[in-house]
Amino acid sequence: MFDSYNRRINYLRISVTDRCNLRCTYCMPAEGIPLMQHSDILSFEEIMEVVDAAVTLGVDKVRITGGEPLVRKGIVNLIEMIASKPGIQDLGMTTNGQLLQQFAQPLKDAGLHRINVSLDTLNPGKYRQITRGGEIDKVLKGIEAAVKSGLSPVKINCVIVKSSSEPDAIEVAEYGKKLGLQVRFIRQMDLEKGEFYIVDGGSGGDCSTCNRLRLTANGMIKPCLFNDMEYNVREHGAHKALQLALGNKPSCGTVNKHGEFYNIGG
Ligand code: 5AD
Ligand code: SF4
Repeated sequence: MFDSYNRRINYLRISVTDRCNLRCTYCMPAEGIPLMQHSDILSFEEIMEVVDAAVTLGVDKVRITGGEPLVRKGIVNLIEMIASKPGIQDLGMTTNGQLLQQFAQPLKDAGLHRINVSLDTLNPGKYRQITRGGEIDKVLKGIEAAVKSGLSPVKINCVIVKSSSEPDAIEVAEYGKKLGLQVRFIRQMDLEKGEFYIVDGGSGGDCSTCNRLRLTANGMIKPCLFNDMEYNVREHGAHKALQLALGNKPSCGTVNKHGEFYNIGG
């Protein structure tokens, strides 16, 4: 499918939960967030209706995000359902890695292709501080398990304040090099203030070549992370909601007054 600016849209990012087992300072307030009602969260059947419609429209690439996708009950089953769908060429996940050690092999076996793991520093104390309580050991063990399981590629997402020559970023880059893993540097963004940047080493943030649509955990199709527009799949049906998002996808992002990374999925 092509949008009104002739960009071919083939990539759907699916947020499966707004919950997270961390509270990263740049993502969530310390006290946490008002969570979505359980009844608002799409069931796997509803998610698959969106995937089916998206594939019919030409989507061949899917990424599972959150919140933290590995806290969603039955996530391995959902991966299996999506992976076994003809037409899906590329299935990825973005995770904070806290639970990855035990999930890596089951995810691989279920048909997940690739995984991105968030890691902003190699200093355990600083990691605990940025994530408000996360354990770096778990992430590092999770990354090792992911490599061992055969998930490929395993990439590292490193959030930076301004530049990839910050000391933490340099350490993460060296760690990536040592393990042969690509590191993507993501500048800290502010959706409300309309501050967003092209991802260094990735494809995000470049409006002119953007090929994405997003599905939030509560069933909104969003044509752009940096815009408030959204179309409810329960109200319009999956096919129509996707078409509305496609037809209204803006040429470039501006501001998003309501969305946050934890509910749209980065
Ligand atoms: N700016 C940039 N990246 C962010 N992420 C979460 N919040 C922000 C923000 N404000 C990133 C996480 C993770 C991905 C899901 O989104 O670090 O890598
Ligand atoms: Fe959770 Fe990711 Fe937000 Fe950190 S950035 S609080 S890991 S959703």
